[in-house]
Amino acid sequence: MIDRPYGAVRNINIIDMYRTHTCGELRIGDAGKEVCLAGWVQRVRKMGGMSFIDLRDRYGITQLVADETSSAEVNAAAEKLGREYVIQAKGTVAERSSKNAKIDTGDIEIRLKEINILNASATPPFTIEDDTDGGDDLRMKYRYLDLRRNAVRKNLELRHKMAFEVRNYLDAHGFLEVETPVLVNSTPEGARDFVVPSRMNPGQFYALPQSPQTLKQLLMVSGFDRYFQIVKCFRDEDLRADRQPEFTQIDCEMSFVEQEDILRLFEGMAKHLFKTVRGIDIKEDFPRMTWNDAMKYYGSDKPDTRFGMKFVELDGILKGYGFTVFDNAKYIGGICAEGAASYTRKQLDQLTEFVKKPQIGAKGLVYARVESDGSVKSSVDKFYSQDVLAKMRDAFGAQPGDLVLILSGDDAMKTRKQLGELRLEMGNRLGLRDKNKFSCLWVIDFPLFEWNEEDGRYYAMHHPFTSPNPDDIPLLDTDPGAVRANAYDMVINGVEVGGGSIRIHDSKLQDKMFRLLGFTEERAQEQFGFLMNAFKYGAPPHGGLAYGLDRWVSLFAGLDSIRDCIAFPKNNAGRDVMLDAPSVLDDSQMEELYLKSTYIKKN
Ligand code: AMO
Repeated sequence: MIDRPYGAVRNINIIDMYRTHTCGELRIGDAGKEVCLAGWVQRVRKMGGMSFIDLRDRYGITQLVADETSSAEVNAAAEKLGREYVIQAKGTVAERSSKNAKIDTGDIEIRLKEINILNASATPPFTIEDDTDGGDDLRMKYRYLDLRRNAVRKNLELRHKMAFEVRNYLDAHGFLEVETPVLVNSTPEGARDFVVPSRMNPGQFYALPQSPQTLKQLLMVSGFDRYFQIVKCFRDEDLRADRQPEFTQIDCEMSFVEQEDILRLFEGMAKHLFKTVRGIDIKEDFPRMTWNDAMKYYGSDKPDTRFGMKFVELDGILKGYGFTVFDNAKYIGGICAEGAASYTRKQLDQLTEFVKKPQIGAKGLVYARVESDGSVKSSVDKFYSQDVLAKMRDAFGAQPGDLVLILSGDDAMKTRKQLGELRLEMGNRLGLRDKNKFSCLWVIDFPLFEWNEEDGRYYAMHHPFTSPNPDDIPLLDTDPGAVRANAYDMVINGVEVGGGSIRIHDSKLQDKMFRLLGFTEERAQEQFGFLMNAFKYGAPPHGGLAYGLDRWVSLFAGLDSIRDCIAFPKNNAGRDVMLDAPSVLDDSQMEELYLKSTYIKKN
């Protein structure tokens, strides 16, 4: 883990016209040297006739001192300094009398011989230190100042290091980085497109790529059998902590491969990143879990496997005793939280409120404590005998001191997802989601299609180019919902860090897929004619995957939001508050683009 500035870690000599050393570089062994530093004034402290100046750059902080031995000019210049002034400082390295063990340069200071003010600074809107007084909005508005702070700078250094190691790994495995265009047509990846009007083609629009999916498949037809690109992708979707409207993929595609080749190669890349960036050597193979099992035991296609608390289905045990909620349910399932029997009434009420939140949507929560004598005390005791409750306890292997939490519902998938949320919440409450612990796995055998109740039709679970599992091809005609895809996701700590699939390379099968997805022949031709056409000219078997770089970096940095590892991110409303984007265009620009806005501002 990089916890020191990257330049300093790598011991790069940075010497240029303004400086002989960086602010993170000088040590006690340099005492007596004449040096010249340049940077930003973080703070000036006056003590008696002395001025202590903390000078900061990307590499660290060095203390400068002006005292009675310094010239009158130096003392006068020190008087003028304010926060964030840019200065050049010349002087002699000396051992400090009061050392600061918290910083790398804490044993020394520079006795000043010359200060040149290179630029003054207005008073910054917040203090640019580790503990800042700036709120989120203010720091986003002045992001260029926020980026001077260690916490944020460190994340960008980590990002650089990761991108660098990605290139190292892929280059060593024969991948070529090829750039694909940003002004393209829409590719359906499940989100809305960002569009760009074309002045030269009146009334027509480009779409920004949601991913370079079709282009990388075309590169396979071209014979670039190992392609990658660290590439910006754009999706107009609701934002969350792990989603930005523009984000970066490590996008990869390979020819002449089967799923096994791809999983092996990209598991290798994950291990390479763990080792080179975090210093963690993972020897074991990543477990592979089918999508069915992930949903059955964790209620999520991206299970956080840092902790157990797997679901146990209780239909067979708890039905038929007159508790109508359970008797009428299609699914009854629970989790066992070790050692949580001591939860108070208030804590249990909080959990009930949690599952009832509209985002979760459960109707209620049943709980059962395992007492010290092994007996079970539940919120539905009047319906169940100790015998039945003991059966339930044993189904979990629950021990004295454990707490069983049960949800039921008339839609098994929905109830599992709710139980999945409750499991994560309990994981948080019990401190089981340690950011320094990593649990990686592959989720495989995704369904090919997802049924959408509202539209009454199937959607591709991954994307329409994903190939069905060959064993399930006959089911395409009889039971499309049961067809498994040759698709896989890599999940780390409950975060989907990447996903991909083996593609369809046969134009007839692709045609069939489009038809099953409700595309008319004309629409399929209009949107994907180029791809279907290309497939007529010798498309090799191929497949690939894309990792989300932002998600990888935030996992490695232990961040709660991917925003913090992006230099200039958007806020939750999709705005860049620093640039004040998006914004309205002036009339002449709108006219030139043949656009007219129908938006009426609400008061
Ligand atoms: P998918 O849509 O699964 O697959 O995206 C791949 C990975 O990109 C990351 N990701 C995001 N990161 C931040 N913000 C977002 N809005 C966002 N959306 C996705 C995730 C995800 O796993 N073309 C296919 C890949 C392929 O089949 O090869 C694709 O884009 O980490």
